[in-house]
This record gives sequence, structure tokens and C-alpha cells, in this order.
Amino acid sequence: MIIKNVTATPSGLIVLWADQSSMTFSWFWLMDHSDDSQSVNSQTLQRNVDTFSIPLDIVADAAGLNAAATLVKINWPNQQITTISCLRLCQVAGKVLDDEQLSNAHSKTYWLADNMPDTLPSISYQEVMDSEQGVLNWLENIDCYGFSLVTDTVATEKATIALAERIAAAQKTIFGTHWPLSSDVKHHDDSAYTTDFLAPHTDACYYYNAAGLQMFNCMEFDGSGGESVLVDGFAIARAIREERPDLYEVLSKVAVPGHYKESAVHLAAERPTFRLDRRGELEQVSFNNYDRSPFILAAQDQEKFYQAYAEFNRHSMNQENWIKIGLRPGTALIFNNWRCLHGRMGYSGRRYFYGCYHDRADYQSRMRTLQKTLSL
Ligand SMILES: [Fe+2]
Repeated sequence: MIIKNVTATPSGLIVLWADQSSMTFSWFWLMDHSDDSQSVNSQTLQRNVDTFSIPLDIVADAAGLNAAATLVKINWPNQQITTISCLRLCQVAGKVLDDEQLSNAHSKTYWLADNMPDTLPSISYQEVMDSEQGVLNWLENIDCYGFSLVTDTVATEKATIALAERIAAAQKTIFGTHWPLSSDVKHHDDSAYTTDFLAPHTDACYYYNAAGLQMFNCMEFDGSGGESVLVDGFAIARAIREERPDLYEVLSKVAVPGHYKESAVHLAAERPTFRLDRRGELEQVSFNNYDRSPFILAAQDQEKFYQAYAEFNRHSMNQENWIKIGLRPGTALIFNNWRCLHGRMGYSGRRYFYGCYHDRADYQSRMRTLQKTLSL
């Protein structure tokens, strides 16, 4: 039992937690968050509460725990009775994970030069294709390390699509739903379609819903160089937050615009390098100096921004922080584009990948539902 007791007062409901700390919930909030069957559809989680008809100064007549201490029952002045689950109160107070946070049973491993993974996280193609547990293991690799290899893949476009669809339908962008990645591709002018070195970056800074995952399956390789490079952007953020909190704040506040232009396409979006969630936790790293579009700040802010931006670049260009992977047919790489930066060493010869993006909400939905069903 996490809630020991509740006390109704004119200013709200005081909840005493098992650890003896307490928190006061306003009556307005409690009515707005009622989760009984009249207030919320338990199947779809859609709300039926008419938030805007609740008086801001509403005060309940009475409130108390049920016998099992699983619900708070509230009597309102209009004779209405609502309930809210104790679990919901614990979740919003941060005492337990809420329904929409992913399980943290597999803790995240952030890696830089001083803390590289001993072995590269990987899973076999067959394991992913054969079982739901295999898909969950794959997604948890990505959640933990920010990336995963898939070994023993089939080097065909059809098999790549089948592999990707084990997570969810791919995210369609101007590059299509599934796309070839090779210097032979001539219908996009992006630097990705060259043989040049590409500094570590995140993709799609010019989209508001930048890809959550990016996957490449190697179809052909006959040449030299061309290793894929990964850097853990969250580990960089953590290092900057510890060493230079002033620069971390700049990178979490200054919106950096990005753009992409080709015939009949002109995308533009912006967000801070470190985008924080409503709890103040880092949600997304965005860094792509190739695609940054022009912007100006007040002189003092600009100097601080460039200092902070260069500090990020110093970490992301430090090769000791890189994982380099020479992909060959039979291996696919998938990574979290909101966490890991990727790059590529220059190369000569032929290098042909086939890949796709996944929307972040889609892959998190798959992981959330697998965690629920497979842990039953
Ligand atoms: Fe890229």
C-alpha cells in the first residue's frame, strides 16, 4: 500500500504516502482526473470529463479511501460521486512509472570513450522474425544502448521491409517509405548520397516529427572505408550537463532551425539541440550542422550559443567516443535517431544499403504493448 491515508481539506485532498511524505491535490484537478467508468473510457483511455464545466473553485463535500485502499471516492456538491485510483495518484506524483513510460527494468547504458559497451548489442534476424519476445529483446537493446545490430539478415529489399515491419510500418518522408542508400542514387541531392565522410549528426532536423528510429540493411559492399559511425548524444548531453551546466542550459533553450531543399520540396523546422520533456528530462538530441539554416541571436546570446554548440561538436567529433561498424551483407544496423548521432567514413567502391525510418510513437507503442503482454 503506497497511500496510507487521505484527508479532505478546503484547499484540497492531502495524500499521505507510505514513506510519510505528503502531497496536496486540488479538488479541480481531482475532478478533472477522475478515472471511474463514467469519466474515462477504460478501453480507449479517452476522457469523458467536461473539464471546462468544472468550477475552478470547486470543493468536495467528502472524500475517503475504499477498504482495499485502491481508490479515492469523492462526493461532490452536485451529488455526483467520482473515483480516482490510488495508482494514478502514485503515478502522477512520480512514485511509480506511469502507464505511458516504458519499463525501466532494462536500465539504459550511456556510452562515451570511458564507458564503451564490451560487446555490440545484437540479435539475430531469425530471433526477431520468429517470436514476439525476439522483437521485444531487439527493442530493449535499442532502448538500452541507443542501437542494435541484427545479424544473419537476408540481403534483399523484401527481407529488409519484413524486418522493419516487425516493429511497425515505416515512416514515410520525402525519401519514400523504404529507400536505397548509395552514391548511385541521383534523385536526391543530400550529402548522404555521396561517398564523402559524414560527420556525426541526427537526421531530419527539418521535420518536426524527426524519425525515431533509422535502420539500414547492407545489401552490397565492395570497396574500402565507409564504416558507419555512432555517437551517444545522450551521453554527450550528460557530460556537458555535469561539466558545463551553463552550456547545457543554452543548448536546451536555443531553438536551432534546420532545412532541406530540392525540387518541389522545402522543409523547415526548429528545436533546441537538447529538447526536454515536461519533467525536465532530456527527450531528444538534434544536431546536424549540414542542415542548419540561417538564424541570428542577440550578440551576447550568440557568443554563448556558439560556445555551447562547439562544445557539443567537440564531443561528437572525438573519435574516442565513436563506435565504428563496417556493415557487410548479412548485417543491419538500427538506432534511435533521437539519441544517437550517426556518421559515415568516406569510401570508395560500391556500398548499397536499404533502409527506412520509424516514427517514435509507433516504435514506443510496440515496445509498450510487448512489455505489457509478455510480462503477464
Ligand atoms: Fe544521416
